[in-house]
Amino acid sequence: MMDTGLFTPLKMRGVTLRNRVGVSPMCQYSCAGGMATDWHLVHLGSRAVGGAGIVIAEATAVTADGRISPGDLGLWTDAHAEPLARCATFIEQNGAVPGIQLAHAGRKASTAAPWLGGRYLAPEEGGWRPIHAPSEVPFSASAPVPQALDAEGIRGVTEAFADAARRALDAGFRVVELHAAHGYLLHQFLSPLSNHREDEYGGSFENRTRLLREMVRAVRGVWPDSLPLWVRLSATDWAEGGWDVEQSVELARVLGPLGVDLVDCSSGGMVPGVKIPLGPGYQVDFAERIRREGGIATAAVGLITAPEQADAIVRAGQADVVLLARQMLRDPYWPLHAARHLGAAGEWPVQYQRAVD
Ligand SMILES: Cc1cc2nc3c(=O)[nH]c(=O)nc-3n(C[C@H](O)[C@H](O)[C@H](O)COP(=O)(O)O)c2cc1C
Repeated sequence: MMDTGLFTPLKMRGVTLRNRVGVSPMCQYSCAGGMATDWHLVHLGSRAVGGAGIVIAEATAVTADGRISPGDLGLWTDAHAEPLARCATFIEQNGAVPGIQLAHAGRKASTAAPWLGGRYLAPEEGGWRPIHAPSEVPFSASAPVPQALDAEGIRGVTEAFADAARRALDAGFRVVELHAAHGYLLHQFLSPLSNHREDEYGGSFENRTRLLREMVRAVRGVWPDSLPLWVRLSATDWAEGGWDVEQSVELARVLGPLGVDLVDCSSGGMVPGVKIPLGPGYQVDFAERIRREGGIATAAVGLITAPEQADAIVRAGQADVVLLARQMLRDPYWPLHAARHLGAAGEWPVQYQRAVD
């Protein structure tokens, strides 16, 4: 069989991805009290069966008030790890690396699931207050004003990320991704549009990136050296005066030496109403630039749907991993179909082989 870029294994610390195709984290809004259910087992598990190299579980809240919606997955107690362990074990048994994204929504917390309109929920509707952020700057005109985290609050969130990482390890996950994109808490600290602080966490690039750097140190402190740590960034806010690709490159240079193995390059989510030039692979240039100038492995994501397109990204050295989200919802077997299409090895589960012989 001919080898292809996309279907070359990737070794990162003590973990080997069987190929460079990953399932991008996707909120399922399907939990009560943050607990994973059979839905998560089947959703994540079927995509491991489908041949992905890594399956990354959705944004998983490190505190209850850090959930985007009441249906978010969580890891804020040891009990949350139990149903997640079933998912991680099944993913691994089926040849994929189990990954999980740890998150705190900050000022974008307490909203309804998208199919219920996505608007902010008041406490009497199942939401909660206060919601927290770097500064008292609401996400939009209709959003509640968040409370600015004080020094103790910042320490608390940092500890919550580290505790959640330890639980993720106990549950059997082998890659942790910190969610510092899409306008959620860690991104809110990075961007001058949401961070108006005048203390050591606001103002200069050094100060705005402090929380993420502290978070990486805290998580690295509990996450074994043998396992990879990834960070998802919004490479740009697509907004004047916001976070941009130059700062992302600068940050990537700092994150590598702190023990981050890969920057997952997304964009946007900081402010509503921005113009994003959507099109096939519209964020791939960010992954390429951050990889080249930031000296770190990257993942490309966003409107990647065709096997040749994904393969070309890896072959051209634009990214080390290609993550697919919506295309994986349409076709959980995308990696196996793509392998066949590209003439690479991809093993259908023995139980299904009679369908493909
Ligand atoms: C249903 C759904 C849920 C998502 N949830 C998350 C999430 O939990 N964390 C995250 O970083 N991105 C999330 N995203 C964004 C995707 O991971 C991905 O970056 C985006 O959809 C672009 O990739 P695509 O064009 O392949 O869908 C979500 C996307 C979808 C469609």
